[in-house]
Amino acid sequence: MVKAVVAGAAGGIGQPLSLLLKLNPIVTELSLYDVVNAPGVAADLSHIPTPAQVSGFLPNTGSQGHKGPEEEKRGAVNALKGADIVVIPAGVPRKPGMTRDDLFINAGICATLAESIAEACPKAFILVISNPVNSTVPVFAEVLKKKGVFDPKRLFGVTTLDCLRASTFVASVVGEPTEASKYVIPVVGGHAGHTILPLLSQAKPSIPSSVLKDKSKRDALVHRIQFGGDEVVEAKAGTGSATLSMAQAGAEFADKVMRAAFKGETGLVAPSYVNLEADPSAAKTIQQEIGKDLAYFSVNVELGKEGIAKLNPVGKIDETETALLKKAVEDLEPSINKGVGFSPASK
Ligand code: NAI
Repeated sequence: MVKAVVAGAAGGIGQPLSLLLKLNPIVTELSLYDVVNAPGVAADLSHIPTPAQVSGFLPNTGSQGHKGPEEEKRGAVNALKGADIVVIPAGVPRKPGMTRDDLFINAGICATLAESIAEACPKAFILVISNPVNSTVPVFAEVLKKKGVFDPKRLFGVTTLDCLRASTFVASVVGEPTEASKYVIPVVGGHAGHTILPLLSQAKPSIPSSVLKDKSKRDALVHRIQFGGDEVVEAKAGTGSATLSMAQAGAEFADKVMRAAFKGETGLVAPSYVNLEADPSAAKTIQQEIGKDLAYFSVNVELGKEGIAKLNPVGKIDETETALLKKAVEDLEPSINKGVGFSPASK
C-alpha cells in the first residue's frame, strides 16, 4: 500500500503529474492538495480504473463529503496524513523575463507545506519541484530540522527535467532525434541557469568527438540544456513554464523512488539536488571535487529502501566542464544561503 500526495495538484504541472501517478500501479492511494480545485481534479481522475483511490483536499475543507470543523482548518494535514511520498509542484511559475530566483515568493508556500508534512507524514519521501529548487530544498530542510524530523535521505530536489532535456537535445545534435531515450547524461549542480551542469563527457552512449570537440556546437548544446526552460516560458508567452514535460519528469523520478523503496528494486540511479549529509562520507569527496563546502548539490543518487542509499561522486570531468563547474558553484552558493536563511515569519 503506497500513499502518494501531490501538493499543488490543480496546477499546470499538478494535473498531468497527478494523472501519471494515478496510472502508476505502485500507488494505491492518491491524495491531491491545492488551494483551488483539488476535489474537482480528484473526482475526474477517480473514474480511471487503476488501483489508486483518489481524494482531493482544499486548505479549509476536509476530504470530499467529510467537512467537519476540525477538518476545515486542516486540509493540508488531512491530505498528507500517512503519506509515503509527497510530490510538490505548488507555487507560482515563471513569466517571460523572470529567472527562477524571482520565484523566491514560493519559499513561504514551501515552509508552510513543510510544517504540515512534519506533522502529518514526517517519514515521507519529499520531492520538491517548486522553484527556485536551489533554495526551496534548503527551506524544506530548515523547517523539518526545526520540527526535529529532518532526514536528509528523504528529501529530493527534482532536477529530472534537466536530464530529459539533455537526452533530447543531445540526440538531436548527434542526428538521432528518434533515439533520445537511449542517451543518459548526468546533470549535476543545481536547477537554474549556470548551476545546471550537464556532464556531456560522461554521456552513455558517448557523444561523438565531432560534437564534443567542436567548441561552438558544444557551447550551444550546454546553453540549450541550461536555458531550455526559457524556450518554453517564451513559447507560452506569459501563460506559464514547462508543465507537461515537468509532469513526466516528476512522475519518472517518483516512480524510481517508489520502485527502490517499496518494490526493493536495486541499481536505480538518478541525479537529484540533495543535502549532502544524506551520505556524509561521499559528501567530503563531492565537496573536494567541487572545491567548496556546499551543503546542497545535485549528483547521481543511488536509491534504496530508505530513500538515498548512496551519493555518487561527480567523477572525472573534462576541461570545459571544470570551467562550468566553477561558475555553477559560484551561482549556487547564494541561492543555498537564501534558502537556509529564509524565515517563514518574513513570508
Ligand atoms: P501553476 O500556477 O500552474 O500551478 C501551481 C499550483 O500551486 C496552482 O494550482 C496553485 O493553486 C497551487 N498553490 C499555490 N499556493 C499553494 C499552497 N499554498 N498550497 C498548495 N498549492 C498551492 O504552476 P506550475 O506551472 O504547475 O508550476 C509550479 C511550480 O513548479 C513553479 O514554482 C515552477 O517554477 C516549478 N517548476 C519546476 C520545474 C523543475 O524542474 N523543478 C520545472 C517547471 C516548473
